[in-house]
Amino acid sequence: MYQDFAAELAWARRHMPRTAKALAALPDLSQVRLACNMHLDLKMAPLVEGLIERGAKLFLTTCNPTTVQDQVVAHLVAKGAEAMAWRDMSDADWSASFDAALAWGPTHLCEMGADLTARLHQFADGPAIKAGLEATGSGISRLGGVAPRYPIFNWDDLPVKEGLHNRHMVGLTAWHTFFQTTHLTLHEKTVLVIGYGLVGQGVAASAKAYGGQVLVAETDPARALQARYDGWPVVTLDEAVASAEVVATATGAKHVLGRQQLAAMKDGAFILNVGHVAEEIEVPFLKAHPHSQPMPFVNAYALPGRTLYLLADGSMFNLTAGYGDSLNAFDVTLAVMVAGIGHVVGAGQGAEPGLHLLPEPAWRAVL
Ligand SMILES: NC(=O)c1ccc[n+]([C@@H]2O[C@H](COP(=O)([O-])OP(=O)(O)OC[C@H]3O[C@@H](n4cnc5c(N)ncnc54)[C@H](O)[C@@H]3O)[C@@H](O)[C@H]2O)c1
Repeated sequence: MYQDFAAELAWARRHMPRTAKALAALPDLSQVRLACNMHLDLKMAPLVEGLIERGAKLFLTTCNPTTVQDQVVAHLVAKGAEAMAWRDMSDADWSASFDAALAWGPTHLCEMGADLTARLHQFADGPAIKAGLEATGSGISRLGGVAPRYPIFNWDDLPVKEGLHNRHMVGLTAWHTFFQTTHLTLHEKTVLVIGYGLVGQGVAASAKAYGGQVLVAETDPARALQARYDGWPVVTLDEAVASAEVVATATGAKHVLGRQQLAAMKDGAFILNVGHVAEEIEVPFLKAHPHSQPMPFVNAYALPGRTLYLLADGSMFNLTAGYGDSLNAFDVTLAVMVAGIGHVVGAGQGAEPGLHLLPEPAWRAVL
């Protein structure tokens, strides 16, 4: 993906001044063993390098094998991190990577999706984690079913994270990636956005900016009402799939677009996901049909009487097929994450076990 990795990394560092400032404010981390389960693309490299420079020992796993950039992992391993993550690793290897990270003996966790915490809580014993950090709505929902044995700080729900990254960047970059991947804009196309959280709100607004005629499907009545107030026609999924020409899932839930909806979709429709899990779409159902790849990241599935185009195999489209957030916007997100790590290895490890919102004094200074 990267033409000149070293140059692109230098460019990233140069455009992430808040992250650099937040890293410089961290204390000595030589007593910290941090297991990080996260997207491993270029924009995460300044974070990992900075933590290593502060003395931390790191073990890297991925929250999503389809977004791993192998060059990034190789670079970070050369810098001193341990890692078990590669692009498109098998489910068995992915699962084993969580066990490897826990067996490595972390003192702290930094997660996107709560995989390590969920795995650790399947057993009565395990490494003595002092505190953890969680970045995603999917991870926070998942932690609802766990009674954490250590404090975990949620920074997804900070307005400075979800109100900027989720709301503004995911939609913008998803449709930018759509254009780059398909060479099509959304003009004259009916775009169905499924899920109207902050991600879905941005996906809907950006779809309009890219020329689409937007419909919203949302199961939560309050969010559906909000969509109506924002001016979008709110539809049920089953009624809208037959007319939509582009369908984007943004829910974080599994099996949102199942075989029944897929079989009813319009000939030539595009399907993409920006939620945390590829299982939002019943991809195995599509894969059971004959298919070809007319363009990179575009798979054409021949269903009876129709061809459907699945983008990036249903994984997080903006990260798998595109670059994700702009560097300047992600600089805010990453700086807050660095500040969150500072809190988790400091005052936060004295908090009660359970889920906490990352307190404002911990991150405000990085803005
Ligand atoms: N692609 C990216 O770069 C990126 C970045 C940030 C977050 N995310 C992910 O995007 C997803 C959405 O994030 P969010 O902050 O908007 O979450 P959210 O939980 O606030 O919103 C999700 C919405 O989807 C709705 N929903 C759930 N099941 C549905 C269904 N079957 N049909 C219609 N609506 C349904 C929910 O009611 C909710 O309003 C999460 O998985 C999150 O991790 C992706």
